[in-house]
Amino acid sequence: MTSNEIRQKFLKFFADRGHKIIPSASLVPENDPSVLFNTAGMQPLVPYLLGQKHPMGTRLADVQKCVRTGDIDEVGDNRHCTFFEMLGNWSLGDYFKEEAIKWSFEFLTSEEEGLGLDINRIYVTVFEGNNDAPRDIEAAEIWKKYIPENRIFFMPAKNNWWSAGESGPCGPDTEIFYDSNEVLIGDINHNEFVKADDEGRIIEVWNNVFMQYEKKDGQVVGKLAKHNVDTGLGFERIVMVKQNGKTVFDTDLFEGLILKIRELSKIKDEKIERIIADHIRTSIFMIGDGVIPGNTGRGYILRRLLRRAVRFSDKIKIEGNSFSFLIDIIIDKYKDAYIELEKNKEIIKNEIKKEADKFHLTLANGLKEFEKGVDPFDLYQSFGFPIELTEEIAKEKGIHINRQDFDNKLKEHQDLSRTSSAGMFKGGLAGHSEQIVKLHTAHHLLLAGLQAIVSPNIKQRGSNITEERLRMDFMCDHKLTDEENQKVEKWVNDRIKENLNVIRREMPLAEAEKLGAQMEFGAKYPDIVSVYFVEDKEGNILSKEFCGGPHVENTGQLGHFKIQKEEASSAGVRRIKAILE
Ligand code: ALA
Repeated sequence: MTSNEIRQKFLKFFADRGHKIIPSASLVPENDPSVLFNTAGMQPLVPYLLGQKHPMGTRLADVQKCVRTGDIDEVGDNRHCTFFEMLGNWSLGDYFKEEAIKWSFEFLTSEEEGLGLDINRIYVTVFEGNNDAPRDIEAAEIWKKYIPENRIFFMPAKNNWWSAGESGPCGPDTEIFYDSNEVLIGDINHNEFVKADDEGRIIEVWNNVFMQYEKKDGQVVGKLAKHNVDTGLGFERIVMVKQNGKTVFDTDLFEGLILKIRELSKIKDEKIERIIADHIRTSIFMIGDGVIPGNTGRGYILRRLLRRAVRFSDKIKIEGNSFSFLIDIIIDKYKDAYIELEKNKEIIKNEIKKEADKFHLTLANGLKEFEKGVDPFDLYQSFGFPIELTEEIAKEKGIHINRQDFDNKLKEHQDLSRTSSAGMFKGGLAGHSEQIVKLHTAHHLLLAGLQAIVSPNIKQRGSNITEERLRMDFMCDHKLTDEENQKVEKWVNDRIKENLNVIRREMPLAEAEKLGAQMEFGAKYPDIVSVYFVEDKEGNILSKEFCGGPHVENTGQLGHFKIQKEEASSAGVRRIKAILE
């Protein structure tokens, strides 16, 4: 079964059980300041898991693009990737544990409607209970209908409790593992199971989260009025299992790519081949969703991946400009499922080439600094100079490098960045605190203001909202004049003073497109969408945007709008930062 067939089979299985299929959201979260990239299928659905009505109903399924770079050092083993697709089915206050478990089991094992996998290779874990919630006997009892009791293991919250942040819906989960070894692992006890999982001999493929509880500031504070189900089936892993691969790289998703890398390189190193394949694939998807290499946030993560790919390809002596061949192979593989890749192919190639060239140049400059005796950590920080490289050169020159000192500084730096990224979760799914909701509405008004004052052709290119401010990137061929800035600011404040209603309407996608509602760059939308309107007293539409919300009900609630800064973001793209006082 090909990877494309597995995607289709999953969606059909859940469509046949009343689920509406929704398209993958962009990797870049829309109006969610808590994360840089979508790291799970549920992320774009948070407002609906918190109770907002979804325009497509209470049963949804999709294939969502995700990025997780926390495990970057694991890439190259049998199962870790920085980009992956997550197949998911959701119940928004509809079905619960009974159906979710039954359907997971049926999809994995049914010959006809599912993947026809071997029942004897399935193990599951369920939540063992703690002060927050009782042992999930219910899930275990349901599982017993399908697999022998000795393959059901109770695990602590560390393994079997899921939440997306410090506040929001959460609950116990049940994870499904598969043994894809040639010789069956068979009957094992609890400790042997934990060991097999740690060693990657049994791998987790699917997680079913039963969102029954609500958390505030890290504490479970009560039960939710509605029970949701959030599931995530790791696509690369399930393709590996179905195609009998030993690793996720031995699948049709990666085979052609790995072969090409091998052909282009002079030294054979399996792990490095996988790292390059993984990092280039992730970079392509990021750029396809509008991210460009930079020194902060998303741009920095992309830069780090690309530089790592360049460094590793130098190690196995891949010719300078070969990434272009790899990009062709990846886009060809994914072009049917993700049309944005083919559409942005030239931009993708160009950005990757630019970054690879820049890094090669940096390497040369870094070398000069090195000659002057600069601290390895400064080389790493300022030039993106990998410590392994510094060590290699030092060795050639007979210079001693204090690796311990470097590691200490790096750790200090990482602790700092971890704290600051942990800080992003403050207020957690709050993403929807009162201030953020207000800034979100101001963001819609700002776009409308720019179009009214500067040019009707202005298009939004990116957005980011925190508790303190909003930030909008937009296509514009010139720096705004002071007069334009003042006029836009005044336009927004006038609309605020007019106390206009902000109205949410659900409508077929085609109708919203016909109305010319503003769309996110590169985003895809379901057949029925929600659109937010701001209308003047005569009913003329001032702003209309495809948007999941939430928003304030009336512009009068916003306070005073102030543009703090207008600056260049990248070629042809300007950036505005603004606040509400
Ligand atoms: N949200 C769950 C996960 O990412 C399904 O594991």
